[in-house]
Amino acid sequence: MKICGFVQTYNGLEYNDIQRCVTNLRKFCDYIVVYDDGSDDETGEYCRQNDCDVLSSEDNDFLNETQNKQKLLTFALNLYDDIDWFFWLDDDEILDKNGCDNIRDFLSVSEFDSHSFKELNLWRSSCWERLDYPGRGEFARAWRNNGYLHFPKSYGLHKCVVPEGRHGGNQLTPFNVIHYGYSSQERIEQRWVERNALGVPLTLSGRNNQFNETKARFEKISDDLFPEEINLESEPNPPVPTVWSDRVYEDIRYGMKENYIIKMTLTQRRSHLNTVVFKEIYDAGYIKEDTLYVGCNQGSSLVMLAPYCKNLTGLDINHASLTVARKHLDDTDNHHVKLICKNLTHYEEEQKYDCIIAFQVMEHIYEKDMDKVLDRIYNSLKPNGVFIVEVPHPTSGYYIDKYHVFHFDNKQKIHDVFGNKFKVTNIVHETRSNPGPDFPGVHSDWRFVCHKLS
Ligand SMILES: C[S@@+](CC[C@H](N)C(=O)[O-])C[C@H]1O[C@@H](n2cnc3c(N)ncnc32)[C@H](O)[C@@H]1O
Repeated sequence: MKICGFVQTYNGLEYNDIQRCVTNLRKFCDYIVVYDDGSDDETGEYCRQNDCDVLSSEDNDFLNETQNKQKLLTFALNLYDDIDWFFWLDDDEILDKNGCDNIRDFLSVSEFDSHSFKELNLWRSSCWERLDYPGRGEFARAWRNNGYLHFPKSYGLHKCVVPEGRHGGNQLTPFNVIHYGYSSQERIEQRWVERNALGVPLTLSGRNNQFNETKARFEKISDDLFPEEINLESEPNPPVPTVWSDRVYEDIRYGMKENYIIKMTLTQRRSHLNTVVFKEIYDAGYIKEDTLYVGCNQGSSLVMLAPYCKNLTGLDINHASLTVARKHLDDTDNHHVKLICKNLTHYEEEQKYDCIIAFQVMEHIYEKDMDKVLDRIYNSLKPNGVFIVEVPHPTSGYYIDKYHVFHFDNKQKIHDVFGNKFKVTNIVHETRSNPGPDFPGVHSDWRFVCHKLS
């Protein structure tokens, strides 16, 4: 009987995941096939040196997880014609010790086409399992190579983690899979940031997801379940919620105020004003191929900006606002406008833009983060690109607002903040009365252009 280990990985060396996983699979697999999803460390190399067959992709495309699995399945079947069973683990998982010792005997007499395994989720520790959220449960890990296995065409993360075609029934095994994906605070936070970027609603408490620890329950996993090579620190106490880092609190700050933002801007906020200003920006020649509008909120400004742009992307930290924006854009036939959910303070993107626009956003950035945000914006601009900013003027009614954490009280302040990295020009103090039917009153703003110094 031949068993083929089946693993997808991305930068698996980072937390010793791929090393742990490959060592584990070696104990009971005859072959190991690995899909290296565009790692930019030496993960692929490590796997090759450790006798795995590696299918490497140039770019990371984790949202295409299901089709990547299909590619890996085809790759394995082309390499070996004697596989009886596939055994799937993610790179941050291992099979427990009983499983390693007994799975071959177990599968050799199996009458099923599929076997599932209970998942033990380590939480902020190397030996305590978190019990209270039903996140992972039981998954079919062992698939008989019955000639029918295939992954359907679906796009997205964790859409279809096991193949179809396992016609001969599924049975739960007495073995467990141990998951390391949340085994430290750093890893939990990394997952938080990824989820936030994917637009998954997140809060630390009150929502039914794994970041809510108010009812967390833990149980120590028996030492006997860990294979002998795993280092077990003695951790007598269950994990306790710890201090979350600033980047998580930043995400929460905006998550919490999502209702406020929806109420404030559901209408065509500042409609007249932005229509005029966007035309001015276009006429000045600043808009070329690629434009990014940060703090796009619910998309009303994107709809006004879209006619002037070839490629337009909106960015906001607030997933709820972006959901409304997507609908608003689609309803107005602006399907081509891209939206990304990211926090400007930890925003990194490969894509470069000719023009980045931030209207009524920079006053939401804390002083301690300002340089970091401006660095990111600078790096996201093409040579000679421009960053066009509008912030409240001290005379405006909304200058003092409970969500504004940075105040531009005079012209010099603008030079001080933006002048280090950019050449600041065209600082205009603009006052307009009743610029739109929906947003009456006097508008008083600074607007200026920051040129990338190449
Ligand atoms: C006042 S609204 C901007 C309105 C919009 N630019 C317009 O002209 O109608 C501020 C927006 O910035 C977003 N925002 C604030 N801080 C952010 C951050 N750190 N990263 C990304 N977006 C942020 C908020 O979620 C909100 O949608």
